[in-house]
Amino acid sequence: MLFFLLLVLQGNAHAQIDPAHCRYPLGMEDGRIKDDDITASSQWYETTGPQYARLNREEGDGAWCPAGLLQPSDVQFLQLDLRQLTFITVVGTQGRHAHGTGNEFARMYRLDYSRDGETWKSWKNRLGNKIMEANDNAYASVIKDLHPPIIARYLRLIPVTKLPTTVCMRMELYGCPWHDGLTGYSSPEGQVMAAPGYPISNLNDSTYDGYHERRKLFGGLGQLTDGVIGQDDFLLTRQYHVWPGYDYVGWRNESLGPGYVEMEFVFDRPRNFTSMKVHCNNMFSRGVKIFSEVSCAFKPRLVADWEPQQAVFRTVLDDRNPSARYVTVPLGRRAAKALRCRFWFADAWMMFSEISFQSADTVIPTLVPPLMTTSCPKLETAIPTQRMETTAASKDPAEDGSTSILIGCLVTIILLLVLIIFLILWCQYVCKVLEKAPRRILEEEMDPPYERVFLLDPQYQDPSVLRHKLPELSQSAESSGCGGGYAEPDVTQCTPHQCFQSSVPHYAETDIVNLQGVTGSNMYAVPALTVDSLTRKDISVAEFPRHRLIFREKLGEGQFGEVHLCEAEGLAEFLGEGAPLPERDGKPVLVAVKQLRADATNNARNDFLKEIKIMSRLNDPNIIQLLCVCVSSDPLCMVTEYMENGDLNMFLSQREIESTLTHANNIPSVSLSDLLHMSVQISSGMRYLASLNFVHRDLATRNCLLDRRLTIKIADFGMSRNLYSSDYYRIQGRAVLPIRWMAWESILLGKFTTASDVWAFGVTLWEIFTLCKEQPYSLLSDEQVIENTGEFFRNQGRQIFLSAPPLCPPSLFELMMRCWSRDIRDRPTFDRLHQALRPHASQ
Ligand SMILES: *[C@@H]1O[C@H](CO)[C@@H](O)[C@H](O)[C@H]1NC(C)=O
Ligand SMILES: *[C@@H]1O[C@H](CO)[C@@H](O)[C@H](O)[C@H]1NC(C)=O
Ligand SMILES: *[C@@H]1O[C@H](CO)[C@@H](O)[C@H](O)[C@H]1NC(C)=O
Repeated sequence: MLFFLLLVLQGNAHAQIDPAHCRYPLGMEDGRIKDDDITASSQWYETTGPQYARLNREEGDGAWCPAGLLQPSDVQFLQLDLRQLTFITVVGTQGRHAHGTGNEFARMYRLDYSRDGETWKSWKNRLGNKIMEANDNAYASVIKDLHPPIIARYLRLIPVTKLPTTVCMRMELYGCPWHDGLTGYSSPEGQVMAAPGYPISNLNDSTYDGYHERRKLFGGLGQLTDGVIGQDDFLLTRQYHVWPGYDYVGWRNESLGPGYVEMEFVFDRPRNFTSMKVHCNNMFSRGVKIFSEVSCAFKPRLVADWEPQQAVFRTVLDDRNPSARYVTVPLGRRAAKALRCRFWFADAWMMFSEISFQSADTVIPTLVPPLMTTSCPKLETAIPTQRMETTAASKDPAEDGSTSILIGCLVTIILLLVLIIFLILWCQYVCKVLEKAPRRILEEEMDPPYERVFLLDPQYQDPSVLRHKLPELSQSAESSGCGGGYAEPDVTQCTPHQCFQSSVPHYAETDIVNLQGVTGSNMYAVPALTVDSLTRKDISVAEFPRHRLIFREKLGEGQFGEVHLCEAEGLAEFLGEGAPLPERDGKPVLVAVKQLRADATNNARNDFLKEIKIMSRLNDPNIIQLLCVCVSSDPLCMVTEYMENGDLNMFLSQREIESTLTHANNIPSVSLSDLLHMSVQISSGMRYLASLNFVHRDLATRNCLLDRRLTIKIADFGMSRNLYSSDYYRIQGRAVLPIRWMAWESILLGKFTTASDVWAFGVTLWEIFTLCKEQPYSLLSDEQVIENTGEFFRNQGRQIFLSAPPLCPPSLFELMMRCWSRDIRDRPTFDRLHQALRPHASQ
């Protein structure tokens, strides 16, 4: 029991801030931010004072309005005091509607923030822009994500205008308390890594908001506290339009001298530290490792000497697993207001993407066993409404105080335990239900618990709207005779409920459970295939001796497997004449090896074999080729061609369109005819799949691979990589759906056909001609994309289409639009698409 408790509390104490979930309204709308804490540089009247700046509220004259006309040079602001350091991730703004009598709003704004109320800094996004787009009407609220997030206690909202105008604003902030309490860190500046054959990676702290002097950073926070953790390969980034290495701050041993990196951390008040977690890269193949040792000194006050006794922690170095990881450094429950840590190099480079601190800011009497000293303050984070006011009591050394805390802790822990047991039981029950009735998940889980509170379009403010949307759709579909519009025989004359139960496999029915299968890819759907029918003789490729695969590098990772880059000794001879291998001129053959984890579930195993069977039947110059397998023993492996130029998304996003400028500056570029040639190849590969009645289900640039000669091959490794996780919509962490590429009928009815692949092809074309610089519908949240799908279904002209990319010839955009026809019969076939694209390419 106690052991269990320990585990739970450990898990709790290790919780880092997760920007994806730190999105709670901070209290403008519901009044938790008091009137006194809302001030402004000026107000037009009493009735448009700062206290009326609450989102969705109509008190006073309905909003805050600064005095007079706002001039382009004016700095008028609304200031909030959040009373504690807060991690702010989202800002919502709205104009003055006043029940229809007001019509003032701000088209743009910027933000200033302060942690101490004295030093103010201006927020900038990751590309350095300060201005955010705001409202274009007086009633709708506009929600903007802050990348990077802001850590501050005070915030100023500053309306910005191009022409003199009256502005009025209402607002809400979203985020969560900043329990780390860190107000600044200092470190040597991050460095640039350049090695032949690799992109140059600048490992600087690009969002640092403090000072930068003599190669040192001090007095601010930045990438190490932005909640974004880096990937296994530090060259890959989680943001768009940034340079390789962006997520990490890195240093080279040689250039620093002493063999360590020294960082200082300053906190808002004295805290009793449990641990520090440092997220480090460990890509040893490129000379990067976690630190070998760290020693931390403590200072109880800012003006004091470092205490002589240090906390020293030696790590266990790992030369086998190149994954990035969190290293937890115990800090021995020492109290301090500042920390100085020296991280010793274990290799040529050290790279961090995130540092967090676990601490209590109360002094807890020694009577309490150590386990609880860490747990009590953490409980406070878990149940904000039951705040435990231990501060006052703990300052009082009296026995009474400590006993009551002890009892309080115990009671809370017991309550928590009961809650956890209940949750586990409930979870088990729900999981069973989910497996049995997948359709219900789609309806009920599409609105995540609190994101829906504010991420919906204000027109649909009722949070239940998303839940009601599908039934409502069902009714209208029913009355129009479901599927009346499309050609497929399997869905005519049925209600959507029956449609869900039809024999066509789709996410809702089959894949919610095993979509993540194997390495998360299960994309070739073959209705007739059953697992029982799978035997070794169905697999028409040869078994390769496992020991002749030599591991070189990890390419990707999924829930049930990994993809490795390997050398395959003697593969050419093994496959014999006419093998589809690139010529390597005597160099070893490189292959991609997808491997199922030994502990994968039976479902995953079956999916893996199923995928092998399907892939072994595919043979087309534009489809990735399965070369051989290792299935006679565990772990199961499939070996495919290795595509040197990676995926099309990565390839294009690092390039510009060819021009004299790119030539002059040696910027990597592609020409319009390259893009057309790529489109033709994809349509050709898809035409082949369609001819076999294969439905891909996840066509997108991330799933098209490029070899050395820029031949495109359609593949499916996409879901096995974390890189593109934002392209997928998660239903309670179980299923991942590429909703931005999916046809309306796939999202709403779970129907996947070649015609829905055509839809995805349209989106893929759009990506190609935007050079993958933007995610489709990047301005819409996932919920809004689903909302938009409903509009596609209703077809009343309110659906939002992707807009024509500037590079794209008009006739080509027309073709894209045809792919997004509501009616399946109006969409072109891949044959037609191929024919239509070919002449473009040869121009
Ligand atoms: C970090 O590096 C990038 C890319 O080289 C550069 O554009 C940016 O200005 C640098 N930022 C800082 C704060 O040094
Ligand atoms: C780091 O540099 C120091 C001083 O140049 C050297 O003594 C030490 O061996 C280096 N450590 C590693 C792991 O290379
Ligand atoms: C921090 O917590 C530990 C364990 O409860 C306690 O022994 C220690 O006195 C505390 N430190 C300070 C300075 O309050």
